[in-house]
Amino acid sequence: MYAIETENIIKQYKNGVQALSGLSIYVKNNEIFSLLGENGAGKSTLIRILTTYLRPTSGKVIMLGKNIYTESKWVREQIACVAQQTSIDMHLSLEENMLFQSRLYKIPKIEAIKRMKKLIYDFGLERYKKYPVSSYSGGVKRRLDIALNMMSKPQILFLDEPTVGMDIQSRNFMWKMMKQIRDEFKTTIFFTTHYLEEADSLSDSICIMKDGKIVKQGTPLELRLLFQENIIRLKFSTDTEIRKCIEILTHFFPPKKILIRNSEIIIHSQDIQLYMKHVISLLVEQNIPFQGIESIQPTLEDVFLRLTQREQEECV
Ligand SMILES: Nc1ncnc2c1ncn2[C@@H]1O[C@H](COP(=O)(O)OP(=O)(O)O)[C@@H](O)[C@H]1O
Ligand SMILES: [Mg+2]
Repeated sequence: MYAIETENIIKQYKNGVQALSGLSIYVKNNEIFSLLGENGAGKSTLIRILTTYLRPTSGKVIMLGKNIYTESKWVREQIACVAQQTSIDMHLSLEENMLFQSRLYKIPKIEAIKRMKKLIYDFGLERYKKYPVSSYSGGVKRRLDIALNMMSKPQILFLDEPTVGMDIQSRNFMWKMMKQIRDEFKTTIFFTTHYLEEADSLSDSICIMKDGKIVKQGTPLELRLLFQENIIRLKFSTDTEIRKCIEILTHFFPPKKILIRNSEIIIHSQDIQLYMKHVISLLVEQNIPFQGIESIQPTLEDVFLRLTQREQEECV
């Protein structure tokens, strides 16, 4: 049984925008699942649908084996969501927020205090527990909000761009907290991000989406292996040389395989030896000076760019 299964979800907003165009995803129990996509891809729309705030135009969602529309009350009790706007009460302290939350979920007082103490201890939040939440930085507020949402012991925790705009230290705390939630609390985490590095280092599964559609789903390793090819990176000292080189290369290589990034030319190739020889002899023949040439393994960023075909736009 999957934690979440969706079948062909379509969401068209009243203004005509089709935010999701037939989305089918599978989230396993007790994994960290990331939905990776640029702004406007439809990530928040999907989270709002999965957490039952929004009805899809059509499609089916099964969560923990139950249909979320016929069993929405039960499903809501099993999940928690930290949306982009924090839900925590800024005037209350973390402890006050937690006890208030426990009353909403009808958790008996003794049990609530036990859970509260454990969460504060486990997440190392002792020094933030007493003062109003408004006294802390954005990064700390977000962690407090997540701790608060763990009071109901959710089976699935949804996080919409939990680390957006955070400094590196807060982000690292957040990553540690998310892994702890998976490993110690056995909660499935569904989070959205537009940071590749974050999806790569944190998730068990990644789903890449673009314009309301899924481009690919898999483990970070599977996604990298999608392209069983290497990359040739060519460095130049001036943009004129880059332009001249591109002009020549596009005569010999398919344009889809070539892109410019950070003043370098990147060529995807299946036969690295042959391509390398070919490129060097072309550049020497045409007298185009280059600073360096090397072959590298694709990163998840290369895979993402190829899948979402941004290289075509960057190509000259
Ligand atoms: N309430 C809404 N009404 C109309 N269009 C919306 C609404 N919310 C989002 N959209 C549109 O739907 C698309 C997907 O948005 P969203 O789900 O917020 O993407 P993401 O979270 O990946 O940035 C965008 O084109 C956005 O402008
Ligand atoms: Mg969003």
